[in-house]
Amino acid sequence: MKTLVAPSILSADFANLGHDIKRAEEGGADWIHVDVMDGHFVPNLTIGAPVVKSIRKQTKLPLDVHLMVTNPDQLLLDFAEAGSDHIIVHVEACTHLQRTLSHIRSLGKLAGVSLNPATPPETLQYVLNDIDEVLVMSVNPGFGGQKFLSAVVPKIRILRQMFDGIGRKDVHISVDGGINAETAKLVVEAGANVLVAGNSVYRADNIADAIAGLKGQPSARA
Ligand code: DX5
Ligand code: ZN
Repeated sequence: MKTLVAPSILSADFANLGHDIKRAEEGGADWIHVDVMDGHFVPNLTIGAPVVKSIRKQTKLPLDVHLMVTNPDQLLLDFAEAGSDHIIVHVEACTHLQRTLSHIRSLGKLAGVSLNPATPPETLQYVLNDIDEVLVMSVNPGFGGQKFLSAVVPKIRILRQMFDGIGRKDVHISVDGGINAETAKLVVEAGANVLVAGNSVYRADNIADAIAGLKGQPSARA
């Protein structure tokens, strides 16, 4: 699978969100990653569906919406109607994960599930066919700019084997947290095909170079 980059707007300038999304799009971003935090599931608060609705008008790129919230079920319709393309829930926040994933698909969206660093891949064993994207957290969610936890690399490998084992070659395995040009290589080699990156994209001098670097390509200006 081609490696895709999904810049996380958590590291963008929230007062200039439209501009920062366009900069990422022009720099070669494949998806836009949107971090939704509720102050309960994670110790931070960010944005809700109205902001997703506004962002939707600024880009044609798929919106990869990462719900770091307790009780995600009650928000699925709002985020679907706001224009999310992928809706990702946390396995740790879902009592009835299969029901939640099929609800997301019934809204016409790609169904994503995220695993915290301490959560084993086997939690997904009986819902593999209900999943379109797995978001492997390589930091404890809540903040941008944290250090990559290399212990999650074997988990990526196991997840890719689990999906290969049932003939699902279409499932995206995304990695989120501490991704830069060095850590990107490790996770792609382990089987990830989507790189979520906040700081390494938005704190870079040149966004196009940063995105090309994540994909293992030479500088976009070279
Ligand atoms: C963390 C968020 C990430 C965050 C990644 O809870 O889910 O998407 O923006 O930021 P970096 O790439 O700076 O670690
Ligand atoms: Zn995220």
